[in-house]
Amino acid sequence: MMQLKKFQDYTALSTAAAAMIIECVRKKPGALLCFATGDTPRLTYQLVAEIAKKEEVDFGNCFFIGLDEWLGIPPDNTGSCHHFLHQYLFIPLGIHPSQFQLFDGLTTNEDGECERMNRLIEKKGNIDFMVAGVGMNGHIGFNEPGTDMNSMAHVAVLDETTRHVGKKYFQDEVPISKGITLGLKQVLQAETLLMLANGLKKAPVIKRTLEEEISNSFPASLIQQHKNGILMIDTEAASELETAQK
Ligand code: PGA
Repeated sequence: MMQLKKFQDYTALSTAAAAMIIECVRKKPGALLCFATGDTPRLTYQLVAEIAKKEEVDFGNCFFIGLDEWLGIPPDNTGSCHHFLHQYLFIPLGIHPSQFQLFDGLTTNEDGECERMNRLIEKKGNIDFMVAGVGMNGHIGFNEPGTDMNSMAHVAVLDETTRHVGKKYFQDEVPISKGITLGLKQVLQAETLLMLANGLKKAPVIKRTLEEEISNSFPASLIQQHKNGILMIDTEAASELETAQK
């Protein structure tokens, strides 16, 4: 069953999340990792890179796969998931290009791109460790509300909330209407699913995640059924929970 872990603040949450990632790689140097991008996990990854350097944790045998990408956005755009992963993880950790496969946001063959990712996961076996954020609409990756629980990698038409919130990542105005993402089946099959949420604006989202019916109409709620799901939240994100959960 899922574990809920609460922390005083964003720093404490990020420190604990980073420690879990480091422990995973120490135990399994060849781990298959899938790390979300976004504001939430940024400090976690910075801490992972710091610890790895200080304590000589070797990420040289890990393999990283992308969770999602904005369709139509080039990899050098600072708002792309590509750019984020390079900036916060791949460059600081010295990850070689042979150690990752990300969705190509500029693909002209969307189905082929999804297949390429599905095949890779199939070949490599299960994702060992996934880090996910949670969107304001409850999405995981670009698995928007209502996404089939058995979905594999697919192209998603982004809902109004995702398009609106997504603007925060981009310096210039860009059209964001579609994304490419691992499916809920792949997310939920990860050996460990670590979901992070911090800040007051995530309080209503966390309330829905934990207190509404578990359903794909609010994908984040599905973590409750994950055999090794861990939801880390800070005091602010926990602030709208029923007192028993706080
Ligand atoms: P955020 O994004 O970490 O920037 O809040 C979360 C998400 O949409 O998954």
